[in-house]
Amino acid sequence: MKVLVIGSGGREHIIVQKLKDSKRVEQIFAAPGNGGIEADATCVDIKDDAIEELVAFAKEAEIDWTIVGPEVPLTKGVVNAFQNEGLKVFGPTEEAAIIEGSKDFAKEFMHKYDIPTAKYQTFTDIDQAKAYIKQEGAPIVIKADGLAAGKGVVVAQTEAEAEEAVESMLVGNRFGDAGSRVVIEEFLDGREFSLFAFVDGEDVYPMVPARDHKRAYDNDEGPNTGGMGAFSPVPGLDPKHVEYTVEKILKPAAKGMKQEGRTYTGVLYGGLIETKAGPKVIEFNARFGDPETQVVLPLLENDLIQVIEDVTSGKDPQLSWKDGYAIGTVVASQGYPGAYQKNVPLPALEEDDQVYVIHAGTGSSEGGGFHSTGGRVLLVGSIQDSPEKAQKEIYRYLKRFDQTDDFFYRKDIGFSKE
Ligand code: AMP
Ligand code: GLY
Repeated sequence: MKVLVIGSGGREHIIVQKLKDSKRVEQIFAAPGNGGIEADATCVDIKDDAIEELVAFAKEAEIDWTIVGPEVPLTKGVVNAFQNEGLKVFGPTEEAAIIEGSKDFAKEFMHKYDIPTAKYQTFTDIDQAKAYIKQEGAPIVIKADGLAAGKGVVVAQTEAEAEEAVESMLVGNRFGDAGSRVVIEEFLDGREFSLFAFVDGEDVYPMVPARDHKRAYDNDEGPNTGGMGAFSPVPGLDPKHVEYTVEKILKPAAKGMKQEGRTYTGVLYGGLIETKAGPKVIEFNARFGDPETQVVLPLLENDLIQVIEDVTSGKDPQLSWKDGYAIGTVVASQGYPGAYQKNVPLPALEEDDQVYVIHAGTGSSEGGGFHSTGGRVLLVGSIQDSPEKAQKEIYRYLKRFDQTDDFFYRKDIGFSKE
């Protein structure tokens, strides 16, 4: 089989590596891929949302399956375009990806199908939004309706902070169109976890739970980022809450999407908070999470392409998971999630039998080695029989980044409370 992976981050690198283990996969392409992916797949220079070019390439190269990583091409209809040409593709259609693409849609959908989530209202008018903030009080959460690369959410501790956030979105045009509508919702108190499932219509096959570390700095301080590290499974997470999430959240969501005429195929991502009243949804995503996938897929024992074939043909893929703890720590460019320098050479990344290195924002340099091309540069992961052992191996390997100020990483991935 020839498989195409769309995307260029760490999530796509681990998908490519997982496909490499498959006896059924002969050749792997990535569009556009990154410096690290080049070692494992043939990278083609097509942007992840250049839909027509992607379709043309898949036809010409006779690709058997395409797997879509990021949300932007999904919400732009990349799956519809592939399907219209009779090409096999794994991911939700544009109509189904709206579950991530519009927070307002997602909230209304959850309300309609009784899926537990924070109480909310949607606003386009600044005065009404401010009045609602006054009525509800702080803490309160302000979200841009559309996609904002994980940066469109403000957890406001004070009413003033909340007012400033709605002002910047509705009046200041901070996120452009994505912020011309805001969802204002109740603050949920509790620990977060992510649960992904392979979904086809009403069939839902959950993966192992994971937890992401979203804040930039140690002790969960600093700004929200795309994710600075992750671990799986999640010690301390009540197994009854995982079961509840599958039965009362993911399955009803799949069923509801079908009833809405938006039948869902692909990975459905539940972002959840374990509140005193049980798990509640913070958000749904229409894809694998990043960086959680970099700790979830390494635990999967099945052949990924076989799982996709089974799920999409109505068969139970019989998911099986390694015993052990996977932890992954992200190395980011100094300054991220704000402004940062690119094209900075990376220290040598020797192979190591205790850790794995997943590239996110790297390019391969002339004459060998890699340089940075993005905010999140790479992830170092390890699977061991205890979280402590995994941490030890990861932080041993990461010492090579301590010689320079060009990069930083959190020292507490797998330890912190979040
Ligand atoms: P999102 O982009 O929707 O995942 O939100 C980013 C982060 O904001 C989440 O990971 C949570 O840490 C936080 N957050 C979002 N919604 C809520 C909420 N209703 N209550 C508390 N924290 C939230
Ligand atoms: N880790 C958060 C996300 O993928 O949206």
